[in-house]
Amino acid sequence: MSKITVSFTVNGKKTTLTSIPNRTLLDVLREDLGLTGAKDACGGEGECGACTVLLDGKPINSCLVFIGQIESGNLTTIEGLALKGHYHPIQRAFVETGAVQCGYCTPGAVMAVKALIDNSPHPSDDEIREGLSGNLCRCTGYNKMVDAVHQVINEASNG
Ligand code: FES
Ligand code: FES
Repeated sequence: MSKITVSFTVNGKKTTLTSIPNRTLLDVLREDLGLTGAKDACGGEGECGACTVLLDGKPINSCLVFIGQIESGNLTTIEGLALKGHYHPIQRAFVETGAVQCGYCTPGAVMAVKALIDNSPHPSDDEIREGLSGNLCRCTGYNKMVDAVHQVINEASNG
């Protein structure tokens, strides 16, 4: 299969790479770019959301996107959220509310919450659950994630 060259931005850094076109974005992130935060918890079937990253601000399952589809795209991965070595407020809230246990789902869930809050700064509980509906967690359930989102919203409101 002939290779393609794709240019895109990851966490603010312009990136160009050559690949066969039908590799998944998840594989390229993990294997070529060393960004291993996004996970595969369902065999790349689009069922778990552990591979969630943002493409142009929208959450996508990176296991379902071929690298050839992201030309000129602007990607944000969990590695792009930490601020100068400090947890992003969403990451910190997940830790502080106990929304992290094994942590396997966490990067994807945090990215889903990031997209949710960016789009709707004051989501209702139903909107939070809907925003997380594509992210399976086998450990904590969702109540603590909802708590984490409320913590982020409250902190933002209190400046
Ligand atoms: S690896 Fe499960 S949805 Fe992508
Ligand atoms: S914390 Fe273990 S799967 Fe969510």
